[in-house]
Amino acid sequence: MRTDSDLPPGLRELLPVNAEIVVQAPGRANLIGEHTDYNEGFVLPAALELRTVVAGRRSDRIRLRSIGRGRPITVDPATGRGPIKGWGRYVTAVVRALREDGRAVRGIDGVIASNLPSGTGLSSSAALEVAVALAVVDEPMSSVELARVCQRAENVHVGVRSGIMDQLASLSARGGAALFIDCRSLETSDVAIPDDLRLLVVDSGHRRQLGRGDYNRRREECDEAARLLGVAALRDASAELVATANLPPLLAARARHVVTENARVLGAVEALGSDDRARIGELFAASHASLATDFEVSTPALDALVEIASHTDGVIAARMTGAGFGGCTVNLVEVGRAEAAMAAIASAYLERTGREARAWLSAPAAGALQAAEPTMRA
Ligand code: GLA
Repeated sequence: MRTDSDLPPGLRELLPVNAEIVVQAPGRANLIGEHTDYNEGFVLPAALELRTVVAGRRSDRIRLRSIGRGRPITVDPATGRGPIKGWGRYVTAVVRALREDGRAVRGIDGVIASNLPSGTGLSSSAALEVAVALAVVDEPMSSVELARVCQRAENVHVGVRSGIMDQLASLSARGGAALFIDCRSLETSDVAIPDDLRLLVVDSGHRRQLGRGDYNRRREECDEAARLLGVAALRDASAELVATANLPPLLAARARHVVTENARVLGAVEALGSDDRARIGELFAASHASLATDFEVSTPALDALVEIASHTDGVIAARMTGAGFGGCTVNLVEVGRAEAAMAAIASAYLERTGREARAWLSAPAAGALQAAEPTMRA
């Protein structure tokens, strides 16, 4: 069994043996608190053992090859000039965002290796942004400062108006715990996950397009609901205000999701604290239902995975995770029954939908700034 300080099997061999810099950043599964981060609310993500590693030697320029993804890209650390398409645009975006934040940026000649699937809602882009930022920034920065820069890279230079959850989880989560984030104050605290539980992430096999489209539209709807309710952010709205304010039905539904979801995050923190597994299951189920009906970001494939999981032995809780529009579910499973649960869910899903579900089992892992080794800075 690997520990958080090891590089995942299969990645270490891909890295240059003479690397001076090795940094790694994990993906995340959000346990609960979906579409609440950009409403200044609460979230509870956990980092995964799946991660992205950047390794190389110091150089005048930034030259990175992503294993399995063709030719290397180069970005000028002094100007931020670099590719604006493909995976390389994330490197350009991070360098530009660091420079706009007034940070010193230095070069690296190296490789990027990852066992984090992209486009499945497990924050492969945030992991790439965080790993690149750590590899090129030339001054100490706090996790919140780094998360903000990486979020800016995504918002301004990639064009997705995402919140701060993914980047902060990738940086700050602690092994064995989920990270509670108050997305207004950006204060965080660790919420221990019982030792005998694992995260089971199941990919519905449906690609999502987290472009400028649906995600950004949800965000605009939330902003508009907050404006009509007369609050600074939906974080400040009560269930009663939403119910009585006479909002257009669609905006009322969006606001209702955010307000009830914030309450569910607080409930889940409490339920994890008292190890009340039945309650955790109920909260996950209610979150999924709210995302499906009020926020309208689930899909029939995700609904099927959650429904199947709810009848599967060893599964404590199941819901869709991340932005939605396809992607993955997250399940809390008992470690002794995890492999069997994974197989049972995949086979029932295949039978019902004709689709293969890929699945990953992970302990709650450590974020980039929490893993002691082998992150080295030269
Ligand atoms: C994506 C975004 C996050 C968050 C989730 C939904 O992962 O990057 O900031 O908004 O969707 O909870």
